[in-house]
Amino acid sequence: MSHPVRGRRFGAFVLVFSLSFPVYVCADSTVAGSEATDWPLWAYGVTTPPQPGDTAKPQRAPGPWFRPDLPREEQLRPLQIEGSSRRYTMVELNDWQHTPDWFPEEHGPVPVAISRGPTSLADQTRACGFCHRIHGGGRPENAPVFGLPVAYFLRQIDDFRAGRRHSSDPRKPNVPTMVALARALSDEEARAVAEFWAAQSGGPPLRVIESELAPPVQLHGNLFVRTSEVASEALSDRILEVPEDFEKSGDLDDPRSGYVAYVPVGSIARGRTLVEHGPLPCATCHGGDLRGSGDVPPIAGRSPSYIARQLHDFKTGARNGSLASQMQPVVAAIGSSEMLAISAYLASLPRTSEADQSLQPDASSADELSGGERPR
Ligand code: HEC
Ligand code: HEC
Repeated sequence: MSHPVRGRRFGAFVLVFSLSFPVYVCADSTVAGSEATDWPLWAYGVTTPPQPGDTAKPQRAPGPWFRPDLPREEQLRPLQIEGSSRRYTMVELNDWQHTPDWFPEEHGPVPVAISRGPTSLADQTRACGFCHRIHGGGRPENAPVFGLPVAYFLRQIDDFRAGRRHSSDPRKPNVPTMVALARALSDEEARAVAEFWAAQSGGPPLRVIESELAPPVQLHGNLFVRTSEVASEALSDRILEVPEDFEKSGDLDDPRSGYVAYVPVGSIARGRTLVEHGPLPCATCHGGDLRGSGDVPPIAGRSPSYIARQLHDFKTGARNGSLASQMQPVVAAIGSSEMLAISAYLASLPRTSEADQSLQPDASSADELSGGERPR
């Protein structure tokens, strides 16, 4: 599989993690950022906790849309990415009803709901793949949906429909969109999507780097994006999950362009202890390799922002679905500091047995509408 990193090097301050030589540090971290409220803000892509009365701003309506920051002609020019023979214009790439399928040879026929959206919404529909992508790899601000058990997937759709699953952060704009789409989806469409994504094994490459320093970032919607590659700021008590190349993964929707997660030094080893020996070992239900078991979902190698958000949402009760009760004893025993460590460790694990090899540490690389231009 092609790796999107273009020969980037990080400074000597970065410790590329190694499971064989874990770094143990003091587990008691009372670092800035976790005092007043116990919110893993980093996981929601926000810098302040929500206030009473906060609501989400509506996302941009479906329909052709031109980015205001680029000339129109430029947005009508066919674009391509490495390894694909397809061409899409920027206008197509920004269209809620048009999911780019850069590598059609890698999968079977795509359900209409993924490429265009639930049919019941007619010209107001939004494609599931606009946010989750054709392969279901997703993005840190929404959800990875590839490889989920069909029964688990359909239960989530039911929970969204019934109001049993939302976000602890009422400002998060893509969750109300997700709920509306779940409600608009027919049961047949839901099953077709669930089966298609269950068969996908992809997902964007994810590198996990233990570091005391992180690059400066700015928010695009609820996604942190690097403004420089130089890690010059204190990482402190957070995980910073950023695109390797925002132009590729964001603008061009290149599914092979991945993410890098800067995690605090020692967090992977601490997370491993919590996952293996915590109040309730995760493998009891999520499978020995944490890649799912029966209708319990896989949690290995997934976006750490997504994982921490779910743990926090279970804890606050924002996720209160029919089987969420099984997660209650787990989250009751942990706070955002443990959620961080668990998410760092889980993110560092390979997703599949084939990936066991390729995910080994790489020794050589030390507007008014919410969501702005990229409402995913
Ligand atoms: C606006 C972007 C967006 C679109 C479009 C979208 N989703 Fe989602 N989806 C989300 C978000 C956000 C979440 C929850 C992430 C969170 O809780 O922070 C989610 C979560 C999910 C989950 C739960 C995954 C898990 O592991 O529990 C499923 C299943 C899902 N979506 C299916 C769909 C389907 C089917 C469609 C099309 C009908 C769709 N989504 C369209 C944003 C979107
Ligand atoms: C007693 C069984 C059980 C144990 C132990 C357990 N889980 Fe879960 N977990 C579940 C079930 C069941 C679900 C699905 C809930 C639902 O359908 O909404 C789940 C869902 C999740 C999710 C949401 C995944 C997604 O795709 O949205 C995360 C994250 C998670 N668990 C993490 C953990 C971690 C981390 C541990 C260990 C610290 C753990 N779980 C231990 C049963 C368990």
